[in-house]
Amino acid sequence: MKRVAILISGGGSNMLALVASMTGDHPARPVLVASNDPGAMGLKRAAELGIATAAVEHRPFKGDRAAFEAALLQPILAAEPDILCLAGFMRVLTPAFVARFEGRMLNIHPSLLPKYTGLHTHQRALDAGDTEAGCSVHEVTAALDEGPLLGQARVPVLPGDTADSLGARVLAQEHRLYPAVLRRFAAGDRSPIFLS
Ligand code: GAR
Repeated sequence: MKRVAILISGGGSNMLALVASMTGDHPARPVLVASNDPGAMGLKRAAELGIATAAVEHRPFKGDRAAFEAALLQPILAAEPDILCLAGFMRVLTPAFVARFEGRMLNIHPSLLPKYTGLHTHQRALDAGDTEAGCSVHEVTAALDEGPLLGQARVPVLPGDTADSLGARVLAQEHRLYPAVLRRFAAGDRSPIFLS
């Protein structure tokens, strides 16, 4: 059984989808949900499900990312994860942290990578006049949102869409895609999947 730690910053809806998927014959189980925000709703939700949680607030480190990560690393290492899933974790990790988990850290990003790395992906897709949007799961490497692709799901952009309406449509697909990718990844399959 693979041990999975999930890093979040907010509501944790992707975390909940991952957790819900890890039952029965799934080759992994959640061992920790950690956040840089002690007030993250997702932490409360994970605790209610009986999952170990940890909060390491980034603000007191005042931009010293290495020091923040050293603190974050403690509960993570204690949980002995085989796989780390970033699920709406909104801090950029240093190359040193990434290197430590190379080949076993995944991220979900709300765009059809390589389009729209970084923030405001839905507004940028609308501004560009795209007719399709979606989400991607990829391996995390030192280059932001650029690691090997593990899966993608597409949605149409509809007339009258706002960033919020498009984002909600994409998020529903994130909740399908991330569990599907994690199941395969935990079983050793890194070939990308494409959901529509
Ligand atoms: C998700 O849409 C995820 O793709 C995005 O944050 C949201 C978190 O929602 N992640 C990023 O933008 C990473 N750069 P959740 O907390 O409900 O899972």
